[in-house]
Parts: sequence; C-alpha cells; structure tokens
Amino acid sequence: MSRFVAVAFRSACRLLNTSRPLTSKRDTQYTSVRNFLVTQSKTKDKVTIYFVTSDGNKIATEAKVNSTLLDSIIDNDLDFDGFGACEGTMACSTCHVILPKHIYNAELPSDEEQDLLDMAYGLTDTSRLGCQVYVTEDMDGVEIKIPTETNDIRGFS
Ligand code: FES
Repeated sequence: MSRFVAVAFRSACRLLNTSRPLTSKRDTQYTSVRNFLVTQSKTKDKVTIYFVTSDGNKIATEAKVNSTLLDSIIDNDLDFDGFGACEGTMACSTCHVILPKHIYNAELPSDEEQDLLDMAYGLTDTSRLGCQVYVTEDMDGVEIKIPTETNDIRGFS
C-alpha cells in the first residue's frame, strides 16, 4: 500500500470510528472513501496461470505473485520433460516459455537472458526464460506456452 493510501485509509477509519449512526451526507462520503481505499489496498497473493503444452493441453496452476514461472511449475508438480534443468541458475535455457505479447512487453529480457534464449529451440518474439519471469497480478488468467522441445545448452539433452 502506498504511503498516501495508508495515510488516507487511517484518516478515513478514524473518522468512521464513532459511536453515532452514519446518517449524514458527509458520513456517506467518508464511507465511500473508505470502501474505495479498502478496495485499492487489496492485493492478490496468488493468480491462476494456464500452461499450454505443445499437444494443446491447458494446465491451470495457482502461482504465487513474486515467484518465478519456474517456481510455479515446480510448486504445482508439473512434469515438462527437461524443463528447468539448471534450477534457475541461468545455465541451460530449458525453461523456455512463450508469453502473451502484453506480458512480454511488461518486462523485457536482460542481455544475459537474451544470449541464452538465442540457443533455445523454437524461439519466438515473446520468448523468455521461465526462471527469469516473475509472476505479477497482471498475469491472472494468462496462457503461457511450453515449446515442443528444450535445448540444454550444457549438453545434457
Ligand atoms: S532453469 Fe536453466 S536457464 Fe532457467
């Protein structure tokens, strides 16, 4: 919650914490402000993400906000062949995922990530490494494609 919202919320709560009934127009306005601020302060800690496999299976997962897509796949016990071989240390490129354009544009890959992506099979304009993409509230309901093949650049696949 931003500092402004927190201060405004406390002020609204202080004004509403009276024993008299809320009947005046002013009270109604304060109630509206409080309801607005409470709504604004609510944040999701989990979202639903759909992973779509190369054979068209759409797998719904619960993903924690601020965790990576790789974490979400591990937390949900999804078994994508060879996926995440280096466990997020940016050494393999097996965690290649294809994002929807609006999610891709929200945060572009670093140069280091782009170098690894260049070695992934089936690279697209919206490819990312799943271990480098953090789940945000904006991702609720999005579909993320898992490419057909993986390429472990360490030479293990
Ligand atoms: S898990 Fe290896 S680069 Fe992401």
